[in-house]
Amino acid sequence: MTTIRPFTCDDLFRFNNVNLDPLTETYGLPFYMQYLAHWPEYFQVAESPAGQIMGYIMGKAEGSADLWHGHVTALSVAPEYRRLGLAAKLMNILEEISEKKRCFFVDLFVRVSNKVAVDMYNKLGYTVYRTVLEYYSGEVDEDAYDMRKALSRDTEKKSVIPLAHPVRPEELD
Ligand SMILES: CC(C)(COP(=O)(O)OP(=O)(O)OC[C@H]1O[C@@H](n2cnc3c(N)ncnc32)[C@H](O)[C@@H]1OP(=O)(O)O)[C@@H](O)C(=O)NCCC(=O)NCCS
Repeated sequence: MTTIRPFTCDDLFRFNNVNLDPLTETYGLPFYMQYLAHWPEYFQVAESPAGQIMGYIMGKAEGSADLWHGHVTALSVAPEYRRLGLAAKLMNILEEISEKKRCFFVDLFVRVSNKVAVDMYNKLGYTVYRTVLEYYSGEVDEDAYDMRKALSRDTEKKSVIPLAHPVRPEELD
């Protein structure tokens, strides 16, 4: 049976099978440690019965007033464990935690070319709030969709009303 449990420091030395994926960002160790220290409840891992890491989610809660929200920083599932509903399950956990923290919405950034992820987020109830121009740097910079899903506290769903124009990374709040 799959186990979903909090991510630990040791998992950082065991998650290469998940991160060896061109669409999965690998950060420096201090970045992961910062998340583990500040938002441990938002860092969850799915483990197979044999002890292999199947996927993980890493996030945080941030913002103030009606911009108080949950944020998905990373979500990745190893290729051999995809289409089993793991990402949907991990997103559900992050949303439940954000509900408990009385967040107004959950947001995330995704490459506009990452159709699988964009379609999945759509299916999970996320919509494009705005496009962030050249958010991802590389040989060719790429735009991001900032996608959002309103939580129950945002009764009027104001947080997900899409912006009329794209923004640049330096304009992000
Ligand atoms: C995107 C990703 C996290 C999805 O993980 P997953 O565990 O396979 O997703 P799920 O099984 O929970 O899928 C949930 C729904 O998303 C959609 N979906 C997921 N993968 C899909 C695919 N390859 N093709 C079509 N639809 C897909 C389906 O609607 C699916 O529901 P269904 O299986 O009942 O039809 C995974 O492909 C991945 O790790 N990709 C690389 C990293 C990445 O892109 N992360 C997101 C960056 S923000």
